Order: sequence, then structure tokens, then C-alpha cells
Amino acid sequence: MRLILRFGGIAILVAAIVILAVLPFATSFVEQWSRRDVELRSRLVFSTARDQVVELLAHNDSAQVEKLFERIATDERVLAIGYCEGQQLRFQTKNMPSFFSCAQAAQSDGESSFTIREQGGNTLISAFPLNVNGRAGHLVVLHDMSFVERRGTQARSSILLALAGVALGAAALVATIALLIMRRWVASIRQAMENARTGTPTPSVDEDLPAIGKEIHDVLQELDATRRTIEAAHTDWNPETLRATLSNELSGSEVIVVSNREPYIHNRTEDGIVLQIPASGLVAALEPVTRACGGTWIAHGSGTADRESVDAYDRVAVPPDNPSYTLRRVWLTEEEQEGYYYGAANEGLWPLCHIAFVRPAFRESDWRMYRAVNEKFAEAVVAEAKREDPVILVQDYHFALLPRMIRERLPRATIVTFWHIPWPNAETFGICPWREEIVDGLLGSSILGFHTQAHCNHFLDAVDTYVESRIDRERDSVTYGGEETLIRPYPISIEWPPTALAGQKSIEECRHAVRQRLGLPPDMRIGVGIERFDYTKGIIDRMQVIDNLFTEYPEWKGRFVFVQVAAPTRSKLASYRQLQEEAEALARDINTRHGTEGYEPIKLLIRHHGPDQVFELFRAADICVVSSLHDGMNLVAKEFVAARDDESGVLILSAFAGASRELSEALIVNPYNAHAMGEAFNRALTMPPEEQRERMRLMRDQVRERNVYRWAGQMLLAASRLRKRLRIRRLIAAGRRRASANA
Ligand code: G6P
Repeated sequence: MRLILRFGGIAILVAAIVILAVLPFATSFVEQWSRRDVELRSRLVFSTARDQVVELLAHNDSAQVEKLFERIATDERVLAIGYCEGQQLRFQTKNMPSFFSCAQAAQSDGESSFTIREQGGNTLISAFPLNVNGRAGHLVVLHDMSFVERRGTQARSSILLALAGVALGAAALVATIALLIMRRWVASIRQAMENARTGTPTPSVDEDLPAIGKEIHDVLQELDATRRTIEAAHTDWNPETLRATLSNELSGSEVIVVSNREPYIHNRTEDGIVLQIPASGLVAALEPVTRACGGTWIAHGSGTADRESVDAYDRVAVPPDNPSYTLRRVWLTEEEQEGYYYGAANEGLWPLCHIAFVRPAFRESDWRMYRAVNEKFAEAVVAEAKREDPVILVQDYHFALLPRMIRERLPRATIVTFWHIPWPNAETFGICPWREEIVDGLLGSSILGFHTQAHCNHFLDAVDTYVESRIDRERDSVTYGGEETLIRPYPISIEWPPTALAGQKSIEECRHAVRQRLGLPPDMRIGVGIERFDYTKGIIDRMQVIDNLFTEYPEWKGRFVFVQVAAPTRSKLASYRQLQEEAEALARDINTRHGTEGYEPIKLLIRHHGPDQVFELFRAADICVVSSLHDGMNLVAKEFVAARDDESGVLILSAFAGASRELSEALIVNPYNAHAMGEAFNRALTMPPEEQRERMRLMRDQVRERNVYRWAGQMLLAASRLRKRLRIRRLIAAGRRRASANA
């Protein structure tokens, strides 16, 4: 109501200003118009009487002149008439006022008129020149002008009344319109709030709803989503919170994951087709995330029975026992695998990014294949995308060129790329002949993630050194070719609680089962190392430490066994084959020198272990050793911590694995320092249970809180913020375009 009164008041104020501005003009208009009217009448009197007056004056017939003058002066407005000869008033009517003098009339030779204000009223004097017998004179006509003032006052009152009426009418009209608009707004706001509460979509074309209602609806929904997201950030991250984040923040979005390694491999064996979960940190992390989010995962179909397990579109629903997303397989020829996977990716980029002193090999033919396979996956992404703006999660060093290729095909996609391995310093990276192309390819991403801030900094240095771009060190972003890429650290993790833990027996049962299987006595202390047979993992150095341990701490001989599980990997490559041969020979040598009848200090198990077997080993162990020479993150360390719900066991962890940034309660070691490593082994084997518990609790809290759902959630939140910002930018740009088109 107050608002409506205010609208009415403003209308009245505007009207009052208009009246005040108009009134003086109206009065002076009336005065000028009346004066012109009287002057006209004076001239009419003069022209009617002139000849007669001249004739009577020429005969000096004063009686007739005065008579004529009196007759003319009978007109009610004519006050008096006179005749001036020079400055002398020779003839006049009786009521000629005393203030009149011929001096003013004689001032001009021609016709003149002027006003004299006397006795509270105005008198207009019009003087007309006459020539009588060669003598110059003036016929003067005096008009009483007091009626002009009366007329002006009347005009003022009438205008005032009319404008006041109009103002009141306008105020009433404005107030009525305001009332109607307010009612409509209130109704639309109510409707928008109700829609936001119930999640009903608000019509995008606002014919039925004023724009404000739509705005409020959107703002409320965003506030609500943000509230829920903030709540989620302070509660445990789990599949539900991740799903909620996805549906609140990226509602209706399509998620597509792209990686080289597939999460499920169908292999043909003598027992028929078996399903294998590959030994890959990438798969371990991403599989639970994709299970929670749904969508499509595009990967190389590398299993011997993969082709038999897909539909006509190369798709298979996974996980097989409870499908929640689609695995789309891409087929690669032998030649493609040679060049792209073994060559460029694993003989070029893998050793380039890891400081493990294995020289990278850069072959142009491999790179051509790498490019071609990236193109192949880009086509697969386009084929799978149902919308023009999907969220695409590109994984790892196999696809450095893919983000740019997708950006060219789907410009509105949100591309989040994650580099799972370390990024070397700019100088080291500089030896790569494809460095510019790699940086260009990765900068096709909307967001580019690494495990640590150090890797982000190295990447920014590489951008700075090798391409023309604008780097914003405060925002950690790169603007390249007009597009911005955010560079962010997202430390990857594992699902919490791990699926593999669900089926595990008690710690005692696991210890018993493992000891039985490996033929170990009940009091034998066990250390484990579980990884792919990769030279970055430091397996040889670790074995040498065990060799030294028995020299420096002989009391452990016969009381300690190290179980090294090594899954064969990339065995086509000479560097991997050599490593395996070297490790096998070293294990044999150590076992010969330090072993006894029925005692083998190193158990080297070269075969793939499924997650259940891995977790059983973790639960049976006293210590777990992760002594990578260089590692992006290393999820084995986190899995060991997650497996130990009894809060015991000791983790020995390399300072050069990303995980050491988070798991600082592990015994952090330099894998190149054999002596210190030996001390760490001894310390771990003698660590009091209380200290083990303290350390394990802190590490478990860390892994529980910073689990893989949080990792994915943080990236999706960043993607959503980016999409909102881009949406606003697009709206502003469209508005500008419309404005300039209308101009
Ligand atoms: C690392 C890489 C992954 C890869 C995994 C296993 O963790 O970052 O991308 O999947 O090793 O290697 P593979 O060559 O067998 O896939």
C-alpha cells in the first residue's frame, strides 16, 4: 500500500512541477494576446475616424471634433481620445485622465503604443500620426487595460483547475496500474518459490510469468543447490552425496568418461569367459565414481573376449551383476596399439613424466599413431554424446591431444582432464619433440587436474616456456587462443569404504589364510608390496633393502618374509621384460643367500591379484611397503590403510609418491637411500601397537574424508561453477548482439 501511495505521490509531484512551470507562460500569453487585441482595436478606431478628424481639424471645428471624440469614446473599453499637436493637447474627451501628457506621444514620428500604470491600473496609449494643414500631430486613443489583469487571473485559475484535475486522474491511474503489476509480481514470486520448492521447472519463455519470477526461481534453486552442496562438503562424501552434487549442480548433464584402460575386461580362458578388473589406479578410482554418476565410459576393448561381450553398438552394461553405466569399447588394431599405447604413451610419455632414469623414446611414427588414436576416441565421444554440452572426463597421458579434438567437435562441452602421473619440470618436459602439441591439446580442456600443486606449477611453467598464452598465477589459469583452462590439484583417492573390504574375514582369519597359502609359520612377520611390475615402483631397490636388512639386522632372518605381488604389465616392452628378469634373479639370489630349508625371505608372486586377494594380503601383513621411485599418487598406500580396520600395521611410503603429502603418519622414506630404508623396515617391525594405532587412525581419517567421491565431487563442482559462469557470459554476449542489431 505504501508503495502504491508513493507511486501516486510521485505522479502528483510531477503534475505540480508541470503546473508551476506552465502558469507564468499562460499568464504572459493572455496579457500579450489582450494587448495585441486592444492595439488592433485602437488602429481600427483610428482608421475609421481619421478622415473625418482630419477634415474637422482642417476647418478648426472644435465643437464637432469633441463631439466626434465623445461618440467614439462611448465604447466601454475606450477610456479617452485626444489630439496632440506637438506637445500640446488640443482636443480631448471629458474623461481624459490627468496623468496623460502629449510628451510621450510626440516622441515618435510614427505610430506607437505604450502602457502607463497609474491609480492601480494599466492604461494603453496608442498614438497615430496625423498631418493637418502641414502641422504634425497625433491622434491618441487610451484604453483601460484593467480587464487584462482580470482575464489573466481567470485564465490562471482555469488552467490550475484543469491541470490539478489531470494530475489527480494520472495519479489515480498510476496507482491502479502499480497495484495491478504488484499483484501479478506477488503471484508470480509465490509461484516461482513454490516451483523451486517442489522442483517444478519454470517456463523458460516468460509470457506467463514476469521475468522477475523466473529470476527468483533460478536464484532460489541455485541457493538451494549451493546450500545442499555446502552441507555435502561438510558431511561425508559418498556415492549419494556425489549423486546429489551431480543432480543439484549439473542437473540434466550427461557424463562421459574416456580412458585407455577399461574398467572390466572380458577374457577367454579354458573355463570360458572370465571377467577381470585390471590392476590400474585409474580404474580403482574412477570405477566407483562412474558407478555413482552413471553415464558412459569409453575405453579400449583390450580383452580377448571383449568383442563377444558387447552389443551391436560396441556397448556393454556394467558392472555385470548390477549395471549402472555403459561401457563403450573402442577397438584398436595391433599397429595402433604398438604406436599409440606401447610406443608414444609408454615408451615416450611415461618415462618422460617419471624420474626413474629410464630414457624416453620418441618415435615420429608412434606419435602419428597416437594422434590417429586420439582422433578415433574423439569420434567415439561425439558418437556417444546425446547433448551438445556433455561433461567429459578425459583420463591420463594416453589422451594429451583428445581435449582439443573434442573442443573442436563439441565447443560447448565441459572437458575435465585428469593427468594421473607426475608432470615433469619444464626443462625435462622440453626434451619432448611434441611438447607444443601436447600443451595445445591439453589446453583444449576446461579444467586440467593433477594430483599435487607441484605438478600444476610444473605444467604452468611448461605453458609459459613453450606456448604463447596468458597465465594468471592467482587463479591458476591459462588463457590460450581466447579460451581459459583452470589448472587445479585434485589428489585422487579410493572409495570409502572399499567394496573389496565388505567380503573380508577377520584380521586373524586373513593372517591364518595367507600364512597357510604361502606355507608360513604362525609367528612369521610379513611385509607386502603390491603393484604392477613397473620400473617406477622401485621393486629392485626394495629387494636390495631386504638383502641389507638381513646384514644390518640379522635378528630378522628366519622371522620376516617379504611378499612381493607384481602384476605383469606392458610386457611387450623391453624395459618391463628386463625389470621382471632382473627382479626374479635378485629374488632367487637373496633367497639363496639368506634363505634356509623351508624359509624363503622373498616370495615373488608374478600374477594378477583381484581386489579381494589384495585386501586379504593387506589384512594379513605387518607392514606394507610403497617405495616408488616416482608416483603421481599411488593408491596402494591408501588401500592398505583402508584395509586395516583393526588400526594396526605400518605403512612405509616413498617421499616421491603423491600419497606422502597426505599420509604423513606413514614412515616416509627415500627409496634411493638403502640404509635409511633398512632402518625404516626395522622400525616398522618393532613399532609398538599403540604407536601403530595412533598413526593408522590419523591416516584412516584422512583417507575416509578425502575419498574418491570427494575427488570427483570437487571436480564436478568446479565444472558446474565454470558452466554457470560461461552461461552468464553467453547471455551477456547475446544481449550485446541483440542490442547492436537493434541499434
Ligand atoms: C597407471 C596409469 C593408468 C594405467 C595404469 C595401468 O596408473 O596412470 O592410466 O591404467 O597405470 O597401466 P596399464 O598400461 O596396464 O593400463
